[in-house]
Order: sequence, then structure tokens, then C-alpha cells
Amino acid sequence: MGDRRALRASLTEQFGPSYEAIEATVESLMADTRPPRALTDLLDFIAPLPAGGLAIDAGSNRGKWAVQIRERHDCRIVAIDLVHGAMVLAAADGLPAVTADIEALPVRSGVADLVWCRDMLECVPDPEAAVSELARVLKGGGQLVLYVAFTTPALEPREADRLITALDMPDWWAHGRRPVQDAIARSGLEVRRVEPISPEHQERALLDGGGLARDFAILARLQRERDRCEAAMGTAWYERWRAWLVWAPYLILGKLETVAWDLRRR
Ligand SMILES: C[S@@+](CC[C@H](N)C(=O)[O-])C[C@H]1O[C@@H](n2cnc3c(N)ncnc32)[C@H](O)[C@@H]1O
Repeated sequence: MGDRRALRASLTEQFGPSYEAIEATVESLMADTRPPRALTDLLDFIAPLPAGGLAIDAGSNRGKWAVQIRERHDCRIVAIDLVHGAMVLAAADGLPAVTADIEALPVRSGVADLVWCRDMLECVPDPEAAVSELARVLKGGGQLVLYVAFTTPALEPREADRLITALDMPDWWAHGRRPVQDAIARSGLEVRRVEPISPEHQERALLDGGGLARDFAILARLQRERDRCEAAMGTAWYERWRAWLVWAPYLILGKLETVAWDLRRR
């Protein structure tokens, strides 16, 4: 009987007049709390560069960030990626582009003013070797802007297994921020600033009405019509595509997180 009374009280609370009041509060909180930063705001992490300075986009893919850095700063920027096809596309956009592994950069020590490394460290098998190699090429006072996606304890083990398998992520990636924090500590780089970024970019994209809503619809379709989609795409691509599409909801739910660092070589 007591439970019934508690249930009635709970239902009255949820569906009675207080609902409207809280709905109005939520709307006013949307107006009063800090709006999310846009994707390109990450470029504000970059410190002023000397005129003609050398920048490297490590793991650049086709170099869309390198192009933006070059537009904002009076610098030379080189795109570096392991995938040759991406380097061909970067070169077509007028970027010096080199096919190489960031764990063995074909760059002399102490020459770069900036290394930009966005959303790629999570692919490397050994983050300590990679961060130490990125630090090696920096001049004294040079900057490494590092932006990495991590798993969090809110990601359930089965969700983690499926994501890691689908995307061939390295084993360390199941262990949250710690392996990268340790790699930074061992690199000797000075941490000037470290900030969680997620889920601001996804929130911004939803508010701006970009393609994220369609991505969610495709995710729903992949889930709902799994057999048909998996047969057409093949299992590996079905799993990969689904993993890319759950990335944003996982960031929004805090199952994944992204963190940006401003690091300087002493
Ligand atoms: C998720 S994409 C990110 C691309 C780009 N940095 C961005 O923010 O849009 C990851 C990129 O890292 C590259 N990559 C992965 N491991 C690498 C390695 N060891 N050395 C160089 N590039 C690598 C991949 O080929 C891919 O282009």
C-alpha cells in the first residue's frame, strides 16, 4: 500500500503541474548556460606562430585542418599521414604532404614551431612512442596541440569490445585517459592547458542543424534493418559504419570523451 502511495506521488510529480514549471526552467537554462564551442574553436588553442614558422599536421588525413591553420597563420605547414591516398588528396590542395608514420617522422629534431595532432593518437599502438616523437621535432618553446578521444568508465564492456573490434583500436584505448597522460608526463612536455571538449562539438552540430541528425537517422536504420544493411555492406563495413555513427551519441552520453592539450617543449 505504501508503495502505491509512493508511486502515485512519483506520477503526480512527473506528470502534474510541476512538469510545465520544470520544462520552462530547462528552456531558460538553455539560454543562460554556456553555449557549446564549435569544431573550429579548437584552432584557438594554437599560440601565435613566428612569421614563416614551420607547422606539422600529424595524422592529417587529407589535410583539411592544415589548410585552415595555413589560412589563419603566416606559416609553412606539412601534412603527414600513414595513408598514401590521403597525402595525394592533400597535395592536390596545395599542401606539402608526406606519407609517414608519426612514430618515425621524417623530420629533423627541434625544427617545428607547432605540431597539430587532432583525433589520431587513438589509432597508434604506442602513445608514449608517438608523443615522444612529436616532442622530438619541436623547437624549444614549440607547441603541441593534442586532441584525443578516449573511452570512459560509462562505456559498458560489451560496447567497448564492439567499438574496439569494429575500428581496430589499440588495446590501450580501453583504459581511458591514463595511457596518454602517462605518455605526456614521460615526454617532458610542459602542460600549459588541458580541457575536456566533448560533447560540445556534437551539441553545436545539433543546434546548428548540421548533418548529425541525418547520421542519427542512418544509425537507427542500420539498427532497425540490420540484416538487409549488413548483407549489402558486408559485416566489417556494417560494424565500422555503425561504430562511426555511435561515436557522437557516445560522446553526448559521456561514454567517450575528447580532451585537448596545449603542450610546450621546454
Ligand atoms: C580520424 S582521422 C583524423 C584526421 C585529422 N587529423 C582530423 O582531425 O580530421 C585519423 C588519421 O590518422 C591517420 N593515422 C593513423 N595512425 C597513423 C600513424 N601511425 N601515422 C600517421 N598517420 C596515422 C589515419 O590514416 C587517419 O588519416
